Amino acid sequence: MALTFKPLSPVFAAEVSGIDLTKPLSQQDVRAINAGMNEHAVLVFRQQPMTAQQQLNFASSFGPLDIGLKRVFKRPERLGDERLIDISNVDADGQVTRRDSPKNLSNFANQLWHSDSSFMNPRAAYSMLHCVIKPSWGGNTEFADLRHAYDTLDERTRAEIQELKAEHYALHTRILLGDEAYTDEQKKSIPPAIWPIADTHPGSGRKVLFVGVHARQILGWPTAESRMYLQDLLEHATRREYVYVHKWEPGDLVIWDNRSTLHRGRRYDIAERRELRRTTINDTPEAMLQAL
Ligand code: OGA
Ligand code: MN
Repeated sequence: MALTFKPLSPVFAAEVSGIDLTKPLSQQDVRAINAGMNEHAVLVFRQQPMTAQQQLNFASSFGPLDIGLKRVFKRPERLGDERLIDISNVDADGQVTRRDSPKNLSNFANQLWHSDSSFMNPRAAYSMLHCVIKPSWGGNTEFADLRHAYDTLDERTRAEIQELKAEHYALHTRILLGDEAYTDEQKKSIPPAIWPIADTHPGSGRKVLFVGVHARQILGWPTAESRMYLQDLLEHATRREYVYVHKWEPGDLVIWDNRSTLHRGRRYDIAERRELRRTTINDTPEAMLQAL
């Protein structure tokens, strides 16, 4: 059966049907999903309950998997395989984590507008988030389209950003959230990554406004001026009326392209269990065979 794409907003994001993600993908399926990603940037698959292993198999069809911040935060993990990122408020022992735990700190950092692993080089290409348990209220995930953000910049700003580069740093969001107790070894273990602010998305050739909360500095600019400018650009990119809000149901799988979108989690009652699993594809030259 052919895949069908139903747009979820006038700007980006589509719901996909006509595929069972727990079965091995054909080259044709991979190609159709890549083409859909290049067009819509966020794809929603409903009612696709899958095991962790099935998610790993599915994700691996698109390229090498990223392990994100695990090289810095070496904590006991619940999910066993380091390529599975545990987006939950559950500790290694299976209990809901305490309010002020490091796990919740990471979850709160995820509530700031970001592109996964933009502080690394290579950065993340696709993230694939699968919902296992949703809380009774809140806990949506929101998405913003950086291609649309670029296209709707005023002329002056668009000209101004052409040669600008931003430094993205892994611990910037943590420091913003008041967590500064890192060893020098941890601070140095992920050197900042530099990306153009006016970037080009490789799969679609579209220009993108590549900002997000990991960006802490515009190269060559004074810090205060860079931060205010980055904040203005971020506000433009995340204007409410263009945001796609995903309301999770267990069994949903959402794929987004970190090179052309931003996302953030939303509040929920952290005393209630929320469990999602993420797999992430590194943006390496062989990733996703996007030329196919
Ligand atoms: C992520 C993320 C937000 C959320 O999985 O990368 O930022 O809603 N998640 O949990
Ligand atoms: Mn994220």
